[in-house]
Amino acid sequence: MERTNQLEKRLIAKIKSQKAKVGIIGLGYVGLPIAIAFAKAGFQITGFDRDHQKIKNLRTGVSHTGDVLNSEVVECVSKNLFLPTGDEHNLSKCDAIIICVPTPLNKTKEPDISFVLNAAQTIKRQFQKGQLVVLESTVYPGTTEEIIQAELETNRIRVGKDFFLCFSPERIDPGNREYPLRKIPKVIGGTTPVCTRVASLLYQQIVDQVIPVSSPRVAEMTKLLENTFRIVNIGLVNELVSVADRLGINLWEVIDAAKSKPFGFMPFYPGPGIGGHCIGIDPLYLSWKARLVGSELRFVELARRINASMPSYVVRRISELLNSKGKAVKHSKILVVGVAYKKDVSDVRESPAIEILEQLSKLGGEMSFHDPHVRTIQFNGERLSSQALTVKMLKRCDLVVIVTPHSNLDYRLLLQHSQLLFDSRNALSRIAKHSRGKVVLL
Ligand SMILES: NC(=O)c1ccc[n+]([C@@H]2O[C@H](COP(=O)([O-])OP(=O)(O)OC[C@H]3O[C@@H](n4cnc5c(N)ncnc54)[C@H](O)[C@@H]3O)[C@@H](O)[C@H]2O)c1
Repeated sequence: MERTNQLEKRLIAKIKSQKAKVGIIGLGYVGLPIAIAFAKAGFQITGFDRDHQKIKNLRTGVSHTGDVLNSEVVECVSKNLFLPTGDEHNLSKCDAIIICVPTPLNKTKEPDISFVLNAAQTIKRQFQKGQLVVLESTVYPGTTEEIIQAELETNRIRVGKDFFLCFSPERIDPGNREYPLRKIPKVIGGTTPVCTRVASLLYQQIVDQVIPVSSPRVAEMTKLLENTFRIVNIGLVNELVSVADRLGINLWEVIDAAKSKPFGFMPFYPGPGIGGHCIGIDPLYLSWKARLVGSELRFVELARRINASMPSYVVRRISELLNSKGKAVKHSKILVVGVAYKKDVSDVRESPAIEILEQLSKLGGEMSFHDPHVRTIQFNGERLSSQALTVKMLKRCDLVVIVTPHSNLDYRLLLQHSQLLFDSRNALSRIAKHSRGKVVLL
């Protein structure tokens, strides 16, 4: 049994009395909801971000994610529970610091861990004994110890004694109202049992359940397993798309029937491709690390290739569809409905819709888009604005393609007034089961 030290006791007392000050590095899709959750639980939050516009917006009560309301930001800022800041010195007053910076891929599709390293260096400059540091960004196994512990530890400052360090993967699903942050169990892996203990207590203030695991590596790999599981299963159903089409079988009907099995099957649905900051990227962190230890993750590579081919597959089907009506993509007016990478969010990062727009435009299609969550996108070096859905505009379009099935779209209007509809998400099934005629499924 480890000896409870004074720093642990002090931190535990502060968390229990809600006097612990919590710092968040990176106020994006992940960091902002966590900041607000802790502030609403009564903790004083310092949100540090190097994007000055973001800080300015937050200070005036403007949220940049659909999962946090402007009113929540206003309330937390006005009660002095949330301080958005671009000044890292404020982090030196924090008892716990949570890192939520991006972990993208570099040009050669390898992990770009520079933001995590940068955050660790910031913490080192503002370090105080007794601080708890938690990394939430998705990383390859080993990052917490190899990057953060290595940066913060010295001969005189030891983890588990002078500071506490954990990895706790962020598992939120932006736009998912059924599973808000509180309802998603938090996996926590500390570098020592004391680290896991203090971090567990902290997160118990904002989530219903914490799942302690034996090390940061286990927690890091847990997140990568979850998203690898998703990418592989999505790849599997996407591979079945063209087979089902050739056999004249509605794949969604097959999946719906298969999911009636009460065990051993979990439904995944086909679609126009994978986007966002997670599913398409995280498994590559794992396969990169696997290569370093002499292993190859064949499933990941195969799924990545199948999923990456889906935008081209959609374009091919659209071009065949127009052809069947005696039209070419060239000079056809094509409306893309939904450009966010998934439903009910405004995030367009890596969205397959952008690639579909680009490919059809290269073929000479006259492209426009509608998305209730996205006002403008950068397209062909220009800014393209979302068009209002009207009867007139739908009738003018040669083809409408549903790419992202947002909940608040007027599907009846689309169904009634589009000349031709390509539904890459089976979104119309809710109003017209197994629709035929002018609606064609992926
Ligand atoms: N978005 C999701 O749905 C989601 C879900 C689970 C996990 N994740 C993971 O969480 C992490 C963050 O993702 P995100 O979507 O919130 O990213 P984001 O790009 O929305 O936000 C990151 C923020 O960090 C800031 N930042 C970058 N470097 C910084 C630094 N050194 N100091 C201070 N601020 C800095 C950026 O300005 C930005 O505001 C990633 O690892 C991602 O894979 C994301």
